[in-house]
Amino acid sequence: MRKITIAIDGFSSCGKSTLAKALAKQLGYIYGDSGAMYRAATLYFLDNDLDWNKELDVKLALKNIQIHFENIEGKNTTFLNGKNVEDDIRTMRVSDSVSPVATISTVRKRMVSLQQEMGKNGGIVMDGRDIGTVVFPNAELKLFITASADVRTQRRYEELLAKGWNVDYEEIKMNLLNRDHIDSTREDSPLKKAEDAVELDNSDLDEEEQLGVALGLVDALQKN
Ligand code: DC
Repeated sequence: MRKITIAIDGFSSCGKSTLAKALAKQLGYIYGDSGAMYRAATLYFLDNDLDWNKELDVKLALKNIQIHFENIEGKNTTFLNGKNVEDDIRTMRVSDSVSPVATISTVRKRMVSLQQEMGKNGGIVMDGRDIGTVVFPNAELKLFITASADVRTQRRYEELLAKGWNVDYEEIKMNLLNRDHIDSTREDSPLKKAEDAVELDNSDLDEEEQLGVALGLVDALQKN
């Protein structure tokens, strides 16, 4: 069966990474977590007291940032300059700053080229905000995932609670809404549905049902 490229976009915590991981596993494809790259870059700025509003600091950061992924115990794991940062990049400290960092064009340029390199041979499912519009505009399948803000907040809340973190529901909701706003109104590659993307509202779907819908679309494509 031919290996295709699958682009999954949507607002924060809409369930796109859950779907992307499950699809990649089922199809034997690479999973590409583009958000993790922006998060790792943000962590670098924060840990090194660099200001993303200063051009020189951005240049310095981009010169020193190396990001790669490894599969550790079946889990896609993010590394920044050789260090496992998978947990650090999910903290509220990073979540609060990642959208402003992701508005910077030079940062985006670097991340997009990394993402395109990962997907150059197809057989990839990548999730993010601009995957169907900018990173893989020729992807054979594009999905745009939506869910209500409350459903998304609840999911994120439960995910962080399950990690044993002390989190506040309202703080998470504010962070999501704020990121939604910055991500969809920025000048460079704003989050928007690609014209040829299939929209999937998963507010009332569980993970298995959502995967079933997506696999149905992949099947239909493979038969064409
Ligand atoms: O998917 P995520 O929540 O881990 O993404 C974190 C942030 O990174 C998100 O708020 C906006 C940015 N991002 C982006 O601008 N473009 C992408 N392709 C992926 C993420």
